[in-house]
Amino acid sequence: MPTGEKSLLRFVTTGSVDDGKSTLIGRLLYETKSIFEDQYTAIEKTSKKKGLKEVELAYLLDGLAAEREQGITIDVAYRYFETEKRKFIITDSPGHVQYTKNMVTGASKADCAVILIDARNGVLTQSKRHGFLISLLQIPHLIVAVNKMDLMDYSQEVFSRVVEEYTDYSQKLDIHDIVFIPVSALKGDNVAVKSKKMPWYEGTTLLHNLEKLNVSADRNLVDFRFPVQYVLRPSADFRGFAGKIVSGTISPSEEVVALPSGKITSIKTINTYDGELTEAFAPQSVVLTLNDEIDVSRGDMIVRKKNLPLIESSLEAIICWMNDEPMTINSSFIMKHTTRSVRASVKSIVYKIDVNTLHRQPAETFSLNDIGRVELKLAAPIFFDPYKINHATGRFILIDPLTNKTVAAGMIRDASRHVEDYVPAETKEGVKQKKSPHTVWRDYHIGLAEREKQSGHKAVVLWFTGLSGSGKSTIAMKLERQLFERGYKTAMLDGDIIRHGLCSDLAFSTADRKENIRRAGETARLFFEHGNIVLCTFISPFKEDRNFVRNLFDTGRFVEIYVDCPIDECQKRDPNGLYKKARSGQIPGFTGIDSPYEAPGKPELTLDTQKCSVDKCVDVIEEFLLKRKMIAKPKK
Ligand code: ADX
Repeated sequence: MPTGEKSLLRFVTTGSVDDGKSTLIGRLLYETKSIFEDQYTAIEKTSKKKGLKEVELAYLLDGLAAEREQGITIDVAYRYFETEKRKFIITDSPGHVQYTKNMVTGASKADCAVILIDARNGVLTQSKRHGFLISLLQIPHLIVAVNKMDLMDYSQEVFSRVVEEYTDYSQKLDIHDIVFIPVSALKGDNVAVKSKKMPWYEGTTLLHNLEKLNVSADRNLVDFRFPVQYVLRPSADFRGFAGKIVSGTISPSEEVVALPSGKITSIKTINTYDGELTEAFAPQSVVLTLNDEIDVSRGDMIVRKKNLPLIESSLEAIICWMNDEPMTINSSFIMKHTTRSVRASVKSIVYKIDVNTLHRQPAETFSLNDIGRVELKLAAPIFFDPYKINHATGRFILIDPLTNKTVAAGMIRDASRHVEDYVPAETKEGVKQKKSPHTVWRDYHIGLAEREKQSGHKAVVLWFTGLSGSGKSTIAMKLERQLFERGYKTAMLDGDIIRHGLCSDLAFSTADRKENIRRAGETARLFFEHGNIVLCTFISPFKEDRNFVRNLFDTGRFVEIYVDCPIDECQKRDPNGLYKKARSGQIPGFTGIDSPYEAPGKPELTLDTQKCSVDKCVDVIEEFLLKRKMIAKPKK
């Protein structure tokens, strides 16, 4: 972002009926002077007429709602306001019953969600449902505003009860940043002005929290993705591709690939209204020109040569069904994904999620507002990243080609992996035989819950990734010893050990490393299902492979630990003299020397082993496990 320009924060507000959402939004608009004098006078009058002591700021929104109703129904309303520090867009999803649908359509681009909880009622099922959706949509920041504190005598105890109960629930979800604020939207306490009534609250106001949220860190600035929107050809000697950089950054002369053709070229210029750029980044809209005349059309994607998205036509996705008519398996839809549209059908339902209990249940169909996991089959492959890594290239909508209605919104988890996908293409045609025919899935007869109850701790996979010599094994071994001595069930999978047995047939090509990590991941899963804390230490240099493993586990059960150490330091340590050999050409394709390492974008933990001692790193991991209630504090 150019300096001097204010940053923009999009946030979504959610609450149950009567939680005071309209009053809160009204209060924010009022305190930031975003409403006109006459609007305020009008609601002041109405409030007096109704005999209210306070000006009812919620009427501000009622006025807007009435305006809306004159037109066609709008599912989501946007409101703008700004302060000296920042601009804001509030995505307000009105409507109670259609809540899920509104939230999924309106909130997938939000940087932050504000959930309102009525202090009088405490945590309701509805508040949990909202939290689940926020976690599902991967909105990076959550603020829980405990409202109507004035009606509860501004009691610290009431607030603490909500904090405790909601923290307990949110730990089961994938929410990393959560802040609680006691407010009274009606009286203005802690909305824009710090309340004098709650001296026990040490945090800052809602507005201040919104102003200081660092959202640039949440954007994916690693994976350059440029879905082409238009091909521009104003004259015979100019050919440019217009679109929005949905993630990552790019500069002239960088090598790129056009998908699906796979043609390689490099960036010649990056043009905008204000002239040429030497670097561009998401979410800028630009026109790119390329150094070679290659065929690129609308719906294609330009990406960096060394950082490709996934290209698949079988997908697994979480979808929210938004149509009044229930979903039918195998019927045909149009999938809109970035700038591309392809035919798609739902092949099968993996499960439906009961949002209230978070349980998964089998289902034959999805009705309005149902959410669950499905397998999709597309008529042509798309270029995507899992939604977790890249919202822009991981989300899509399904449209009914007959009615033109949007019937579902979805988030891609990954390519769906079937046994037949592991069979090379050429054998698929010739021998119509799967690799493991006639096998059926069977559940473990002793379930994980039973095992965890007996051991008194949770099963979890701790995946250590980092360069050779970064300290992965040293930290993992120390941690395992500590856990083991306290009686925890542990298992250790280490690259250097596994490569002597299970993976002794594999070398270090990209494909072999992929298979190495796949086997390691599947093995980790077996140990996991048996109730272990599984410590895995693999360089695992490729994001895609690590994500494959992540997706084998439920949210929260896979903990990616980035053991971060600069290559120079690793070379200095060089415990087995491998870097020296690699530099002299004796080990081709050595990670960090002549083979890449893709650092994790959002690992659960990062350990800087240049700065932190082994003991400190072990403590950090233990604290994390304690906080997530995976293990308990050791008895003194
Ligand atoms: S991974 O890339 O497939 O994840 P893994 O962690 O299993 O690697 O194995 C890494 C170990 O193999 C290193 O600790 C090192 O001892 C050894 N090794 C041998 N050749 C290479 C190479 N080309 N790149 C990285 N490690 C190598």
